Amino acid sequence: MDIERLRREFPARRIHHYPAIDSTMRAAVGLAPGSVVLAGQQTDGQGRRGRRWHSEPGSGIYCSIVLKPAPALTLALGLATADAIARSTGMVCDLRWPNDVMLAGKKVAGILVQVADGNAIAGIGINVNHISFPPELASEATSLRIHTGAPVSSTDILLHLLPAIDTFVELDQDTILRLFTRASTYAAGRRVTVAQPDGIIEGTTAGLDPAGFLIVHKDDGTDTLIVAGGVRAAGS
Ligand code: BTN
Repeated sequence: MDIERLRREFPARRIHHYPAIDSTMRAAVGLAPGSVVLAGQQTDGQGRRGRRWHSEPGSGIYCSIVLKPAPALTLALGLATADAIARSTGMVCDLRWPNDVMLAGKKVAGILVQVADGNAIAGIGINVNHISFPPELASEATSLRIHTGAPVSSTDILLHLLPAIDTFVELDQDTILRLFTRASTYAAGRRVTVAQPDGIIEGTTAGLDPAGFLIVHKDDGTDTLIVAGGVRAAGS
């Protein structure tokens, strides 16, 4: 990754780079909005719902960006990440609500948003040049390189990602919901299972409510509003 080029292209940003760190999320706490933390590897990468993020040395983008809180931020970040991947590689990703970035049914990027000191810290992990994954992840994770069969430039992706985030977080909530609904095959008409605190439900997605939560129409005719992740394609 060419950090000096990123610093030249984005002179107004503070770009911190660590060859290795526990988690870029921790390093970003207390930094000013606009700051970016990048790492070559993470020894304790954090995923959503208490999981760990597989952070193989030198193969992925491990990035945290400090942002002002914004409407529908979680959805906007997924859109920005898919947009950056499309612009830099030509690959069109799907979005699994709320913001898993998917290629051919497998996850290629994940996003974690945490609030600290009144700012939002957007953690973005992109599987760029991984050639394989540990057995427990192999059925659900992929990388851009696995998909294209050729090495992919993390620098190029970041050159598109930082401006894309600026663009998408400026949009109003209705626009973000409309763009998400258009970009995601999960938003409506998709059979899904969802892990809920009281068990797994199955049904068909029926769009987003005005706050951006996912509506799932269950087979008994009732609707459930999904407010946190855990959505999977049924049968996968
Ligand atoms: C998910 O579970 O889908 C979210 C994964 C978020 C991973 C990124 S990698 C950069 C940043 N630092 C972390 O420790 N986590 C996020």
